Amino acid sequence: MTQDELKALVGRAALAYVVPGTVVGVGTGSTVNCFIDALATMKDRIAGAVSSSVQSTARLRGHGITVLDANEVDHIPVYIDGADEIDHRGFMIKGGGAALTREKIVADLADRFVCIADESKLVDVMGRYPLPVEVITMAAAQVARRFTTTYGGQATVRAGVTTDNGNLILDVRGLQITDPMAMETEVNQWPGVVTVGIFARHRARVCLLGTSQGVRTLDFD
Ligand code: A5P
Repeated sequence: MTQDELKALVGRAALAYVVPGTVVGVGTGSTVNCFIDALATMKDRIAGAVSSSVQSTARLRGHGITVLDANEVDHIPVYIDGADEIDHRGFMIKGGGAALTREKIVADLADRFVCIADESKLVDVMGRYPLPVEVITMAAAQVARRFTTTYGGQATVRAGVTTDNGNLILDVRGLQITDPMAMETEVNQWPGVVTVGIFARHRARVCLLGTSQGVRTLDFD
């Protein structure tokens, strides 16, 4: 199976985690696009969606799915999103599509994060994928230097990218993220950091992993 076929497979499999009659949290990315297309087949059985990006909102509305503002919702049962890397504990790197801040906000509304990914995303130690960090523009160089002195990582500004929130993305290479919870906590304290793309506090509870043998379910609860 191709990578696109694996993404379509897990996108459809995620429908089993949607709770009928409730609002669904929807992430961002090519795998989530497959999920949104599948969600359209049951749009009359959900109360709507909360979206994590302008891109996903447009796709949801294109299918006639109601999109609610996050401020209108105080709680959702499930959030479905992809990942750039996921480890065997459900910790993730996210933000390859620059939507990490809104993704973390919607994940925070949810009881359960269901990750959908192809098997190339599963790793033993995170960090080979450059870690995305959303930063306020005036702090970009300062945060980049701090990554070097604190963790030995090399941060560069992602060229030509402004987030939906009007900020920059730093991509940090050369990290070995052995303690995701500690790194997330530390980096989020640095002035100018909006969100670090480590999802440890908001880790996946379930991962639907697309493999050539079919969907493998990793349960982290
Ligand atoms: C968006 O900012 C990211 O967090 C995506 O969820 C992540 O990059 C996965 O995207 P793909 O499904 O396109 O690989």
